[in-house]
Amino acid sequence: MEVLKLDLNCIKNTYKKRPCDSHKGTHGHALLIAGSENKIGAAIIASKACLRSGVGLLTVSIPKSEKVSLATSIPEAMFHFRDELFDFSGFTSIGIGPGLNQDDAAQKLLYSVLIKVKNPVVFDADALNILAKNQDWLSLLPIQSILTPHPKEFDRLFGEHISESERRNTAIKKAKELNCVIVLKGHKTFITDGTYTFENTTGNSGLAKGGSGDALTGMITSFLAQGYTTLEAAKLGVYLHGLAADITLQTQSEESMLITDVIENIGLAFK
Ligand code: APR
Ligand code: MG
Repeated sequence: MEVLKLDLNCIKNTYKKRPCDSHKGTHGHALLIAGSENKIGAAIIASKACLRSGVGLLTVSIPKSEKVSLATSIPEAMFHFRDELFDFSGFTSIGIGPGLNQDDAAQKLLYSVLIKVKNPVVFDADALNILAKNQDWLSLLPIQSILTPHPKEFDRLFGEHISESERRNTAIKKAKELNCVIVLKGHKTFITDGTYTFENTTGNSGLAKGGSGDALTGMITSFLAQGYTTLEAAKLGVYLHGLAADITLQTQSEESMLITDVIENIGLAFK
C-alpha cells in the first residue's frame, strides 16, 4: 500500500475555509473528557488547543475540585463536573483520555461513553490504556472513531511489536477491523483508516515532551466537531500540530519549546 505524504498539498485539499456568515453553531460543540486531580494540565492543554483550532463551543468534563483552575485558564470553555449525571448528547464530537487516570471512576466513565455515544470519539492516553485492559470493549467503539496511541500505548492495545513497520501493518489491519482511524504517533506520525495511509511531514523533537499528545487530541476533537470527516480531522490535526511546532522554532529551540508556545502558534500554522 502506497504511503502518501501528509504535506501542504495534501492538506490544501482537506482544509475548508469558514463561511463569512457563520455563527458558533456552524462550527460544532466539542466535549473533552480530560484531566484528573494531579493531571489537570492535560485538560487545560487539550482545551486550549481545541479552541485554537476553530470549534464553536467547548465543554470540558473535569473533577469539580479543579473548577477554579480551569475557569481561570480557559474562560472560553463551559464545564461539566464528573460527579453529575450526564447523557453526552448534543455534542458534535467527543475527545476522551488525556490525564484521565485509570481508576474505577475513569473506567465507568469510558464505558458509559462507549455504550451511549454513537458519534465518532477521539480516544487517547488513559482511555487507550483502559481499552487495552478491557479488550472486549474495543467492539463497542463508535464507528469512525479515532485512536491516537504512541508506540507504547499501541503495543498495550494490540500486542508487542519489534519494529515501526510491523506496527504500521497492524495499524492498517486494526483500523479496517474496528472501522476506525488510527493515528500512530511519533517522529513521522502514521495515519490510516485501513484503506489509505499517510505519513506526516511536519513536527520536530521539541514535541518530545509531556503534554504534546494532549494538544493533538484537542485539535483533532475540534476538527471533528466542525464537520470534517474522521480521516480529514486526523490529517488536519496531525499536520497543523507539527507545523505549529516548526513555526515555534523561529522563537524557541527544540529544548526550550513548551507545548503552550506551540498552541499559541496554531494560528500562524493555519495562515
Ligand atoms: N518529532 C516529531 N513529532 C514528535 C516527536 C519528534 N521527535 N516527538 C514527539 N512528537 C509528537 C508525536 O507525534 C505526538 O503527536 O508529539 C506528540 C507526543 O504525544 P504523546 O506521546 O502522547 O506524548 P504526551 O503528550 O507527552 O503524552 C503524555 O500520554 O503516554 C501517556 O499517560 C501518558 O500522561 C502521559 C501522556
Ligand atoms: Mg499522550
